[in-house]
Amino acid sequence: MSNKVKPLIAGNWKMNGLRADLRQIEALVRGLKERRSLACDVLICPPATLLAALGAACAQSVVMSGGQNCHVRQKGAHTGDISALMLADAGAKYVIVGHSERRAGHSETDGLVRAKAQSALGAGLIPIICVGETQAERLAALAVTVVEHQLDGSVPDLAPGQQIVIAYEPVWAIGSGQTPASEDILLIHSFIREWLEARFAGRGSAINILYGGSMNPANAGEILALNNVNGGLVGGASLNAKDFLAIIDAA
Ligand code: PGA
Repeated sequence: MSNKVKPLIAGNWKMNGLRADLRQIEALVRGLKERRSLACDVLICPPATLLAALGAACAQSVVMSGGQNCHVRQKGAHTGDISALMLADAGAKYVIVGHSERRAGHSETDGLVRAKAQSALGAGLIPIICVGETQAERLAALAVTVVEHQLDGSVPDLAPGQQIVIAYEPVWAIGSGQTPASEDILLIHSFIREWLEARFAGRGSAINILYGGSMNPANAGEILALNNVNGGLVGGASLNAKDFLAIIDAA
């Protein structure tokens, strides 16, 4: 892990979680209180329906909350959408944008992801901008090219004080139980770091680059120890407090 950056362990609950599942959050909060000092920041991105209740459950703890998506506009006639401003108003500090499930399932383009990231910044949120290649692209040795293209198109300019997070999530590793070899994660994360430093100079060295895709208690230690891996974006294993705590301990 790059020494300069405090790791962020972020849980992405996706379309999972009813009020009864806040028990897992209560267990997470209890578990974190038992740990004297934490080497990482902790974030949960629940479905929007649980943001307020999760915020209340985490009020006395270090656990932060985030959204999973936002609209490019802050308000207006957009039935069914949620704005970054609304997420911030509900207590969110971060919002995931450009997750591959949104890129694939909702035809989100790099340009749209960039606009969403800008909207998030405008609302005072930190966007977690996701990039990553498909299996076919990896097999065609296009992983770096694809990630570079997504970064070029999805990452907005930053005003002073504004912050972003990048999440490298190979599409084929998400929910599959498969992860890239450590050398492959290292290679892409180093590439992303160079890209960020070329784009943002010194500020690029301080941006968290998360790995996401089938991170679990068994593989988190090895992945999080890699240079330029500054945390994880955790799906399935974030739904269970015990597993998520084990990943936090690995950081
Ligand atoms: P996973 O999901 O940990 O279940 O693979 C990660 C993600 O999609 O953010």
